[in-house]
Amino acid sequence: MLNDINSVLLTEDQIQKRIAELGAEITRDFEGKDPLFVGVLKGCFMFMADLMRCVNIRCSVDFMAVSSYGNRSVTSGAVEINKDLSEDIENRHVIVVEDILDSGLTLNYLVNYLGVRNPASITLVTLLDKPARRRVPIKVDYAGFEIPDAFVVGYGLDYAERYRNLPFIGILKPEIYND
Ligand code: IMP
Repeated sequence: MLNDINSVLLTEDQIQKRIAELGAEITRDFEGKDPLFVGVLKGCFMFMADLMRCVNIRCSVDFMAVSSYGNRSVTSGAVEINKDLSEDIENRHVIVVEDILDSGLTLNYLVNYLGVRNPASITLVTLLDKPARRRVPIKVDYAGFEIPDAFVVGYGLDYAERYRNLPFIGILKPEIYND
């Protein structure tokens, strides 16, 4: 598995330090608001688990599962909801937690999809932001790292469902997905 990685972009240590900062900011900004954190599966699972341990306020957690990629490294443009929320979000402060913001299509779709349920607010958190690839304008409220236009895996992020278990974020060798 490690042979498929070109280079390490973000180490475990860098990731954890940044998540502690994001958690502290969210704790400060949402004190007393009892927000609902909505993780976007599957990619968010490690980030969500670590972020939630750095958020020290009353809150709840739910998940959605969406797919936009299939087994390809380029977006199909279509977003499919595979699992919806199990909580009612009317009048709740919703904080959507994503692993990576790429074209913006997924978050843009989710903001519209959840917006019609009348939440009190929708806030967007992403661990990684690849601004060079944006296809729709979208404003994230909390972003962990701005990264270059490379396909990355690890820490929850996959290529064809593999590499999610890497503890760091690495750049995949192009020959892996150009086959
Ligand atoms: P967007 O809709 O193009 O912004 O892409 C969001 C989704 O695409 C993420 O939740 C990931 O599942 C996937 N994605 C985008 N870029 C990468 C990458 O570099 N590695 C792995 N998955 C990615």
